[in-house]
Order: sequence, then structure tokens, then C-alpha cells
Amino acid sequence: MRSSLFLSLALPAGIAASCNADNCLRALRATARLEAAQSFCATFTTASVTETSAIPSYAVAGCTGNVASRVSSACSCISTPSTTSTFVPSTSTSTSVATSTPTGFPTGPKDCLDPQLSCHNTTAVADLCCFNAPGGQLLQTQFWDTSPSTGPNNSWTIHGLWPDHCDGTYDANCDPSREFTNITAILEYYNKTDLLTYMNTYWKDYQGNDESFWEHEWGKHGTCISTLEPSCYGGGYKGQEEVVEYFEQTVGLFGGLDSYSILANAGILPSRSQTYTLLEIQSALTTFHSQPVTLGCSSGALDEIWYHFNVLGSVQTGSFIPAPPDGSKSDCPATGIKYLPKYQATPTSTGTGGGPTGTGVPYVGKGYLNAFTGDGGKKGCLISAGTWYTTGTCATYNAVTVGDGFTLTSSKGPCTVQGDDSFSCAAPNAAGTVFRALNGSLAYAGSSNFYAAAVPVGSVQQKVFTRVDAVPVSFVWQSL
Ligand SMILES: *[C@@H]1O[C@H](CO)[C@@H](O)[C@H](O)[C@H]1NC(C)=O
Ligand SMILES: *[C@@H]1O[C@H](CO)[C@@H](O)[C@H](O)[C@H]1NC(C)=O
Ligand SMILES: *[C@@H]1O[C@H](CO)[C@@H](O)[C@H](O)[C@H]1NC(C)=O
Ligand SMILES: *[C@@H]1O[C@H](CO)[C@@H](O)[C@H](O)[C@H]1NC(C)=O
Ligand SMILES: *[C@@H]1O[C@H](CO)[C@@H](O)[C@H](O)[C@H]1NC(C)=O
Repeated sequence: MRSSLFLSLALPAGIAASCNADNCLRALRATARLEAAQSFCATFTTASVTETSAIPSYAVAGCTGNVASRVSSACSCISTPSTTSTFVPSTSTSTSVATSTPTGFPTGPKDCLDPQLSCHNTTAVADLCCFNAPGGQLLQTQFWDTSPSTGPNNSWTIHGLWPDHCDGTYDANCDPSREFTNITAILEYYNKTDLLTYMNTYWKDYQGNDESFWEHEWGKHGTCISTLEPSCYGGGYKGQEEVVEYFEQTVGLFGGLDSYSILANAGILPSRSQTYTLLEIQSALTTFHSQPVTLGCSSGALDEIWYHFNVLGSVQTGSFIPAPPDGSKSDCPATGIKYLPKYQATPTSTGTGGGPTGTGVPYVGKGYLNAFTGDGGKKGCLISAGTWYTTGTCATYNAVTVGDGFTLTSSKGPCTVQGDDSFSCAAPNAAGTVFRALNGSLAYAGSSNFYAAAVPVGSVQQKVFTRVDAVPVSFVWQSL
């Protein structure tokens, strides 16, 4: 049970718990009601509260799920030194005590008095340490990976926390000097053992390289969050502490957005045969979040959920307020949506026997890129310049994981997609083009469709393009 990581056992008065910044805690420590929440917490013990009727409505709303135990946990994080009550967790699963030194809830760069809700200002706001801009719409994005599968079979996994502009556009890689390649070391340095354990379970790279996935999410998205700028910490800034807060806040938000349970409670469960409508899925999630979410599908199967928020104050200490999506980005069909179970191999295909056998094999290390045409048959492969050939030896490609994708290199040089949309591997090419796998096939810019003017015959090589041409072709990795 994921929430067990967040329960804090009774702590002596005056000692701050290592608190998780989830929506529940935010609901209690919001500026307007902190005092009321503290006095409520001072009288609250879960031992005597079995019904949520004794809990204020703002806390019930923020602390969904096991309300009493989440309120108990959050209460232990806002208690005042004079508080003498103890807080007893109500579930037997609450055995996970923070093993790291209690550090207290991060107080953030500074107090944000009278904060404004991002994307809702009517005049320019000067202090971007207390107001997220231009990235005022924060998205907590989640994956449901089945090919290959990642994470627990009854939980979605974390993709990231992304700051979109209020109009749905976004900045990326905002500060190359802070694109750290030592996320694990930073979290270890700050004694965030529990956070790392949680991330190792729920923040998974589908190719098994979690650290590089975290680096990608921080470098691409985290560096664009204005309230996480080092300058916001003033003279007390300790190196990379904003990185710690990015990961803590993301995990905290995710902990309050248990998509698997939300869908399961609406009867939407992973299945090989059952399909669902967009309306069914969207309704269940909208009821929970109080705003529509963005849904992502690949080959008709649900695999992403994006929860949108505005933030009242900073990402570190503010409140995340559910917001409607900043544009329509869902790409699921209206009906017939699959929600596939994890860790269940697709049935072996019958028929030609020549179908893509590489499905699910991670694109990493050395391998061939085999070509498949519309009838599902294997027809040759890519050779070293990145061209398609049906007679002769396949080139050996080297795939290196980058974030949630990978780069490709052949003996000729780095592979990229050129200005004329052709796939090319050559020494002068800039390295670093990131490809991904979609349902096992090589994909570029979200699509696994490649094209050529014709199926190559004899000694003729065909250039391969990402734009439409006469013959659709897809490429599947074969590890060597
Ligand atoms: C809100 O504040 C930001 C940051 O100062 C500014 O860029 C934006 O134009 C403001 N929006 C409006 C409607 O004034
Ligand atoms: C999930 O995994 C657990 C442990 O491996 C297994 O017992 C359980 O049956 C699986 N559940 C589903 C729905 O696949
Ligand atoms: C992480 O990397 C940064 C940049 O190289 C460095 O300044 C910092 O000391 C490193 N932190 C740890 C804990 O290794
Ligand atoms: C991490 O824990 C060690 C051992 O308790 C302590 O000496 C150190 O100061 C802590 N580091 C930070 C950044 O809090
Ligand atoms: C993945 O590709 C195979 C072979 O092309 C196809 O049969 C299968 O339906 C695809 N899976 C999904 C989830 O679309």
C-alpha cells in the first residue's frame, strides 16, 4: 500500500516529522486555515475517530483514501511545540517509519504571504519566487507501462511534474547549468532515503535506467519552475536543495493521485479483452480530481494520465489547486479503449510467424533494426547509413538510454532525422536525437510510422522518411 510510506508514527512533541508534501498536508497547512487546523489536530487522535464526520471538510477533501490515517499523518507535521497529544496511526500497515534523520517539512525559500493563484493574475506579478510563471500550470503526469511493464501491477508510475504556460505551450531545459547527472547522489546527500526507495518503486524508466529518467525530468522540466530557482532561497541556499524539493513535491502529489484505485473503484480494471469508453475513464478521474484530466493512448491502449493544477504560492510550500487542462491534448479514441494488464506477455502471434518478434525487448546495447511492412512480414533491415536494404547483412546499431528514450549510433555515426524528414546515420550528424519505442517499434516524435518510396529490391537501398510516402514500414529492435 503506497500510502504506508507516508505515515508517521507518534513523535514526541516539538520534534518535527519528516513530512510528505501531499495534498492532504497542503489542505491543513494552507495559510488561511493553519491555525484552525493546528487546534483541530491538537485534539485529534485516530484512536478515537473512526468516522470522518469529526474531521473538518477541508481535511476530508484534501485527504482522500484512508482519511483518518492521512489526517493523522498530516497533523503530526503541523503540530505546534506546545501540542501534547500523540497521534496514533489507525492502520496496521503503518510500520514504515522514516529511517533518515527527521529534517522537518521544508520551509521553502521564504514565506509567501498573500500568494496568488498561478494563471489567475490580472496584472503582472513581480515576485516569481512566490508565483509560478511563465510555467503556471503544473502537470503531474503518470504512466501505465505494459510493453515492457514497469512498477507494481496495481499502480500507475510517475512520469514527472511539468510546468506548462497557462496557454498550454511550455519551456524546456531552462538552465543547462543545473542539468544534474547525480540525482541519486543529491537525494542521498540530503538523507532522503525513503524518498529514493519510493522513487525506485514508483518512478520507473521502462528500460530500467531510473537515474537517467529522473535526470531527464529534472533537467527538461524542473529547471523551468520559477519558484524553484536557487535565487529564491536567498543567502541560505544549500546546493541542489531545489532538486530535492522537485522530487519531494512530485512524489507527494502522485501519492494523492492513485489512478489505479480511482479507476478500479469505477470498475475500470486492466483486462486483455475488456474495453472502455473515453467517457467512462474521464468521468471516474474527473469525479476524483474535480477537473478533467488529459488521457494518453498508444495503439488504442490507455497509457498516460496528466493531472493539471494551478499553484497558490510556490511549488515548495503552496497549495496545488486542480485546474482544467491547458488545451485539448488527449489522444484516446472515444470507444474501444484497452487498459492492458502489466506483466502479461502478448499472446504469440499466429500466421506468418514473421511478425515483430522484438516487441518488449528494450532498445539498449547492440542490435539490429529489422524492417516490417504492412502485411506484418519481416523485409530486410537498416544498414549503417540508416537506409533500408533487403539483401545482405544488417548493420549493428548501438542504443544508449536517454531519459525515457534512447539514442542510436551506427558505424557511420549518430542517427538523426534530417531536415528533409529522412532517417540518417552519419559522422557529421549532431548526436543526441532521442528515439522511443512504441509497442516495441522504433518511434520518432511520437510515431512509429516510417515510410519509403518503395520496398527495396536487390542491391537498391531505400531512404527511410518520417513523412508519408508510398510504403509504410516499421522497425523493431533485435538485441545482439
Ligand atoms: C501574470 O504575471 C506574470 C508574471 O509577472 C506576467 O507575465 C503575466 O503577464 C501576468 N498576467 C496578466 C494577465 O497580467
Ligand atoms: C500482481 O502481482 C502480485 C504479486 O506478484 C500477484 O500476486 C497478483 O496476482 C498480481 N495481480 C494482478 C491483477 O495481476
Ligand atoms: C552533484 O553534481 C553537482 C554538479 O556537478 C555538484 O555540484 C554536487 O556537489 C553534486 N552533489 C553530490 C551530492 O554529489
Ligand atoms: C545526513 O545525515 C547525517 C548523519 O545523521 C548527518 O551528519 C548529515 O548532516 C545529514 N545531512 C543533511 C544534508 O542533513
Ligand atoms: C502491437 O503490435 C502488434 C504487432 O503489430 C499488434 O498485433 C498489437 O495489437 C499491438 N499492440 C497494441 C497494444 O496495439
